[in-house]
Amino acid sequence: MFENLKLHARAAQNRSILSLFDSPERAEEFSLRWGNMLFDYSKTNMDGAARDLLLELFAQAQVDRKRSAMFSGQKINETENRAVLHVALRNQGKGAIYVDGADVMPEVRATRASMVRFCKDVRSGDFRGQGGKITDVVNIGIGGSDLGPEMAVLALAPYHDGPNCHFVSNIDGAHISDVLKALNPETTLVIVASKTFTTIETMTNAATALDWMSKSVKNPAAQFAALSSATEKTAEFGIPDDRVFGFSDWVGGRYSLWGPIGLSIMIAIGPDHFNAFLEGAYEMDQHFLNTDPLENMPVMLALTGIWHNQVCGYGSRAVLPYDQRLARLPAYLQQLEMESNGKQVSMDGERLSVRSGPIVWGEPGTNGQHAFYQLLHQGTEIVPCEFMVAAQGHEEDLGHHHHLLLANCLAQSQALMVGRAMDDARGLAARKGYEGAELERQAQHRVFEGNRPSTTLLYPKLTPKVLGVLIALYEHRVFVEGAILNINSYDQWGVELGKELATALEPILRLGHKDEKLDASTQQLLDFVREHGN
Ligand code: F6P
Repeated sequence: MFENLKLHARAAQNRSILSLFDSPERAEEFSLRWGNMLFDYSKTNMDGAARDLLLELFAQAQVDRKRSAMFSGQKINETENRAVLHVALRNQGKGAIYVDGADVMPEVRATRASMVRFCKDVRSGDFRGQGGKITDVVNIGIGGSDLGPEMAVLALAPYHDGPNCHFVSNIDGAHISDVLKALNPETTLVIVASKTFTTIETMTNAATALDWMSKSVKNPAAQFAALSSATEKTAEFGIPDDRVFGFSDWVGGRYSLWGPIGLSIMIAIGPDHFNAFLEGAYEMDQHFLNTDPLENMPVMLALTGIWHNQVCGYGSRAVLPYDQRLARLPAYLQQLEMESNGKQVSMDGERLSVRSGPIVWGEPGTNGQHAFYQLLHQGTEIVPCEFMVAAQGHEEDLGHHHHLLLANCLAQSQALMVGRAMDDARGLAARKGYEGAELERQAQHRVFEGNRPSTTLLYPKLTPKVLGVLIALYEHRVFVEGAILNINSYDQWGVELGKELATALEPILRLGHKDEKLDASTQQLLDFVREHGN
């Protein structure tokens, strides 16, 4: 199937994307609307035949069956023998969802109710620090226990009416030090977010925060809460059970912001807005479950991804939100997509015959335009670009900013596709006064080959509900791409080796031991650190 698609892509390689618009229906036929969103993939080189082949690939991979298996609580994460049920955390339906014969929904609802109670207490001042009402919340976590909450709190800044929220993730002492030095320990709540409660970065930062607080607060653990499934370990740390919000092993770290890991989001924006965020995601879940592939936004977003990466061979994609408050979305999507689909073997343990998931990167527009867009337009690599922008901004008095933002976003996808031909480049150079051979040379630098693919996602305004829709859209896109590649999108064995080696190197560094088995490069690096370190 991939071979047919690749043959088709090769045959279409030299066709211009612009020529596809000779069909007056191109824009409408290669975009889809759902709710109040528009996903336009018409500025790609996918034609009707390619799309049919992609839809066949989708059918052959039995994505429907795999999707039902996920939503019904089957253990589709086979290497960890776990169900994958982040959808249960935002389920607004009345029905049961079973794992190992037990309905998980009562526990999900009970945990959410206790989060709401705690959140209201913190926001109202019923839960106080030694110095009074909580003014600041520090979420200490890493990976999925950090990226989602940090991304969402920034995204929803216009709804933020709770205490200030800060995020500490890096083991680098600079991170926690810079955050804590601006805070009053007597009015700070520390949330230790770690599914396993063993992650070295988080546990080291949590101990440092406890130490910092104990210097001015009599009972520092009273200003700590934990988001974790490891209740023995949270108790050992000194956090009482009524401030521990747990979740089951069927919630993957990078899919966890819908439940307890989202506590800092809930404290920032309040339970009602948090609920709207869940509702948005639930609506996307229903759309994903019940809509034909061609009209299904996550499916078509995924098929566009497969087309660009596995078929056309473009190994990376840029996520370009024209929305400053989505500044952390590219980092969030890096974990979501690369930790999920960066796998070299199939579910059966066979080496993949096509590329694994792509490298995902990006920055908000318009900043990226003044940094790396040069390469997007004139580099030798083709990077499919995924633009996203709201039709409306939140700053009503700054409408002119938003018009400029929109104009820039739309202009970039246009420029990538249309480019600038040599004749126009010559005209430009001539107007600058160049002539003869110098005019030719100058013109070459002003040529844009164009024909570079992009998609654009438009949404009305970045509300909590729309953010829920957006994140669930990307989660399901990752699911579909993983299902087509037949990989396990829900384990992350690739992060283990580095952790093990760091654990082995730390005492060597600290105690100055030699390890005869170390490679010469690592030994040289260690020697340098010993010579210059403190
Ligand atoms: O980097 C590996 C990983 O397990 C991620 O998948 C996870 O989000 C992160 O570490 C943090 O894990 P925990 O929540 O257990 O501290």
